[in-house]
Amino acid sequence: MARILVTGGAGFIGSNVVDEYVRLGHKVVIVDNLFSGKRENINKNAKFYEMDIRDKKILDILKKEEIEIINHHAAQISVPDSVKNPIFDAEVNILGTLNLLQCAKEVGIKRFIFISSGGTVYGANAKLPANENMPITADNPYGISKVTGEHYVRFFSNQFKMKYVILRYSNVYGPRQIPHGEAGVVSIFINKILKNEPPVIFGEGKCIRDYVYVGDVARANVLALKYATNEAINIGTGIKTDVNKLYAIICKVTDFHKKPIMGPYREGDIPANYLNINKAKKVLKWEPKINLEEGIKRTYNFFLKNVLV
Ligand SMILES: NC(=O)c1ccc[n+]([C@@H]2O[C@H](COP(=O)([O-])OP(=O)(O)OC[C@H]3O[C@@H](n4cnc5c(N)ncnc54)[C@H](O)[C@@H]3O)[C@@H](O)[C@H]2O)c1
Repeated sequence: MARILVTGGAGFIGSNVVDEYVRLGHKVVIVDNLFSGKRENINKNAKFYEMDIRDKKILDILKKEEIEIINHHAAQISVPDSVKNPIFDAEVNILGTLNLLQCAKEVGIKRFIFISSGGTVYGANAKLPANENMPITADNPYGISKVTGEHYVRFFSNQFKMKYVILRYSNVYGPRQIPHGEAGVVSIFINKILKNEPPVIFGEGKCIRDYVYVGDVARANVLALKYATNEAINIGTGIKTDVNKLYAIICKVTDFHKKPIMGPYREGDIPANYLNINKAKKVLKWEPKINLEEGIKRTYNFFLKNVLV
């Protein structure tokens, strides 16, 4: 069993990863400053440090807890916020990652799992489905910070013999996703429906995305403890779903019959993004198991019991 630090372990995806690691018997330590994460997401059997990833005291935690593996989920995740405040985005996502890598180097961390964004790093003009051999580029500060983080991870790995895995997620959805902002459309729609209000669909509902269930993503993080050494891997389904289809499935699951409100195209929304996941199947021995309807049922059941504000 490994001693693992999960940054962002109070957040949506990170907390689901922590639950899976704890369930399998790993010793888990969480670092999270609760910027968007929530105390109630924190697994009782993990040790929690309320700390910023930019804090130099991370080194003390790595030493004290004898951490062997770092799984780095903490981030500023909003694209519009990164456009409004690129310096803050870079401070958290670039300098925070760099601080972790420096600390990791000091204590000789065996493996660094870095979470990147398959929906962003291939750029708006990528040939779809995007695969890992395509050049990584970026169209906004959030994307630039993820691309830069990937480069730093590779640099530290080459220089200091630290092993790494980069996981490039598509659109992740599931229990605990916060229904705010521009991301998390599944949770936004479900939470509107729970209030008996029709959601707004932008751009005629034609935007295509690749929706992957958070439980499948957590399983990929388990496999990344062992497989896919020094590789960047797409984690998605490879399945194209437009927003109209997504809404139809959500309406079926929730037995909701109101027509959505049709809104304008949103600036910056790329028309389509989905990922080629052949590499994940081959080197990570992973593929998604939960289809969209089943994942939406599980997410709906979560929100029925947990109203997020
Ligand atoms: N949600 C998606 O569809 C998606 C897709 C691609 C990549 N990702 C990546 O997955 C990771 C997790 O995203 P999420 O959707 O769970 O978001 P989230 O906001 O729920 O999780 C981020 C966590 O990081 C913490 N955090 C933020 N700044 C911090 C700091 N300076 N120091 C310590 N902790 C800090 C937050 O409090 C939160 O708990 C992020 O790296 C994100 O970029 C998410």
